[in-house]
Amino acid sequence: MKDKLLEILKQAEENINSIKTIHDLHNTKSHFIGKKSIIKDLMKHLTSLPPEERPAFGKQVNDVMRSIEKFIEEAETRINENEYQDAVNTNQFDPSMPGRPLQKGSKHPLTLVQEKLEDVMISMGFQVVEGFDVEDDYHNFDALNHPLNHPARNLADTFYVNMPNETKWNSILLRTHTSPDQIRVMEKYKPPFKIISIGRAYRNDRFDPTHSPVFSQCEGLVVGEDISFKDLKNTIEIFIKNMFGSDCESRFRPHFFPFTEPSAEVDISCFICKGQGCAVCKNSGWIEIMGAGMVHPNVFDILKIDNEKYTGYAFGCGIERIAMLTYHIPDIRLLYENDLRFLKQFG
Ligand code: DAH
Repeated sequence: MKDKLLEILKQAEENINSIKTIHDLHNTKSHFIGKKSIIKDLMKHLTSLPPEERPAFGKQVNDVMRSIEKFIEEAETRINENEYQDAVNTNQFDPSMPGRPLQKGSKHPLTLVQEKLEDVMISMGFQVVEGFDVEDDYHNFDALNHPLNHPARNLADTFYVNMPNETKWNSILLRTHTSPDQIRVMEKYKPPFKIISIGRAYRNDRFDPTHSPVFSQCEGLVVGEDISFKDLKNTIEIFIKNMFGSDCESRFRPHFFPFTEPSAEVDISCFICKGQGCAVCKNSGWIEIMGAGMVHPNVFDILKIDNEKYTGYAFGCGIERIAMLTYHIPDIRLLYENDLRFLKQFG
């Protein structure tokens, strides 16, 4: 058996060394070490050997296969080099011609915003977590203190998932915001937390220049002892200056969200017209950028977090909106159409 192996090795070396084309080399490779090769045939005899001889034989077969592979590799380099030289010598091609330029990929503007936002928040000690696109109504609404008759629960606003065996037909849905991610964190861990979560959200909206049924949001949550509205304001101010420039101002307007109390909407000074008035800020000098507030004590109660000991703040903003403002993108649909003429602008 060993002699047979050495005979195959010798044959293979001679054969491979005389081959002139890659096509012949492939055929020879199959003949010697391919699926139906003579080596594979020989392997079939392994079981006819006494068990104590099998490992040594297996090793010999492997060594021979490895040597043949090496001959093939060397032959491939030799053949390619010869073909190249032949082509140059017979003027078939001119190696000094410039090559075809490769198209360079670039990051999507939403990815660029997400990465920058994560960097800014991580530098302030936030951890990045992930939630689920498919949620249940408990995490999306109930635990966020939405009353049962809240309009957002309506079919006109929320995509419900048909669950064949589900008795309560409207309990599974595509999350309408990333706020359920804060509930999942509060359920799973003990305070203090300082997290952000970025992901897709879904609403039953028609496409228009500023709306899309699928969009992305960033949710933030900080819970601990002695966390105050002042901490929220500081964090948001640092966030805004880093995202939109150090001369960008912010203001908080009172607002309502079921899961925060007090709640606010945050505006930034229009960095396009610098307060002069333009189409983007609708001549007001301010652009609404996010919702925020102190975590509602009811939310802490639902999650069994001691609301005497702990306080917290939360905020949420749209990634598309930040991208549109940062890169002067006039229509949200451009972000989803994968038109290379648009995407190539972003480095
Ligand atoms: N979930 C809200 C929305 O989609 C945004 C939001 C507002 C998130 C206030 C928050 C918050 O965490 O405190 O419109």
